[in-house]
Amino acid sequence: MKLWRGARLATLAGERGWGLIDDGALLVDGDRLRWVGPAAELPPEAAEAEVIDLGGALVTPGLVDCHTHLVYGGSRALEFEQRLHGASYADIAKAGGGIRATVAATRVATEAELLATATKRARALIAEGVTTLEVKSGYGLDAATEARMLRVARRLTGLGVTVRTTYLAAHALPPECPDADDYIAAVCRWLPELAEAGLVDAVDAFCEHIAFSPAQVARVFDTARRLGLPVKLHAEQLSDQGGAGLAASYRALSCDHLEFLSPAGVQAMAEAGTVAVLLPGAYYALRETQLPPVAALREAGVPIAIATDHNPGSSPTLSPLLMLNMACVLFRLTPEEALRGLTVNGARALGLSDRGQLVAGQRADFCIWDTSHPRELAACFGHNPLQQRIHQGES
Ligand code: NIG
Ligand code: FE
Repeated sequence: MKLWRGARLATLAGERGWGLIDDGALLVDGDRLRWVGPAAELPPEAAEAEVIDLGGALVTPGLVDCHTHLVYGGSRALEFEQRLHGASYADIAKAGGGIRATVAATRVATEAELLATATKRARALIAEGVTTLEVKSGYGLDAATEARMLRVARRLTGLGVTVRTTYLAAHALPPECPDADDYIAAVCRWLPELAEAGLVDAVDAFCEHIAFSPAQVARVFDTARRLGLPVKLHAEQLSDQGGAGLAASYRALSCDHLEFLSPAGVQAMAEAGTVAVLLPGAYYALRETQLPPVAALREAGVPIAIATDHNPGSSPTLSPLLMLNMACVLFRLTPEEALRGLTVNGARALGLSDRGQLVAGQRADFCIWDTSHPRELAACFGHNPLQQRIHQGES
């Protein structure tokens, strides 16, 4: 056992509050937190543990980035310039750029090439304290490339981070299949084998006027349900398609983006216990002006998560700490809501209840920061105060 002491803990225990413990300690047994509390109340078994003194550093739960598209080939920096010259994200997509451009570059990349680039990106997230990471497919849009992406995502586990994989073949229409209904049939056909191979933890889709309709998404979700897989949805990012209501009717783990979410969508998510994953990086990079309905989500008691949405087009950021800041400045989350969004609620968006808070019984995933108060993590930007990161009890 290891005893981490001399810490200022932000446990995030319970439903609200930082859960601050000024002179705190964590007793770690293998990959679990055995005891968490004030140093003055240490349990007797702590006497046997190896002691590590943190000298007053701040400790928070490890960060959970619950929405990324980390595995892909190519670059889309040119589209950044095109958008600066006035083209919209939707215009670029309709002209064959956007997701389709990344699909072309991903299809020609080998598994080793995809692994090499995704490894660099994952390392950047890890360097800011990420201990659990979600990775979506969706830049293959054919059976072989979707499988390759998911295998690469799984292999990132070797970096000492937990990886959850999401099947997002219903992301865009591939050039060789102009009929969306035919393509959705293929998306449903490919899924059982990938699930059987253990490559899929959840199923996602992009419900949008430039992507798939609610009726098409429902066919993918029906397939997921038959296989016992949970679902999530890219919903109401550019327009209100009623995607959130549909996803909630399948008890989706999360709906993500949500700038155009309607009051009915908020209600449906609240009733289903679906997490709202807000993605300030995409909002910022696309210079969106429609804000997600944060006050309504709060009032309805919908748990709010935030994530990087790392992808080469709409959100090419590898900084979860910057997302904390942007969630506060752009979306008016409180620093505590933002940190909960990147820890306990991010975990919930992945269906994980064993991490995200510093509480006995949870996984020993935590971050040690060279800063005095957790609100500093959200207030500062362009600065990384991470001192050490512990994943499953190991540094
Ligand atoms: O989450 N909205 C759809 N999918 C991604 C963007 C993918 C891309 O542009 O390559 C997102 O923002
Ligand atoms: Fe996304």
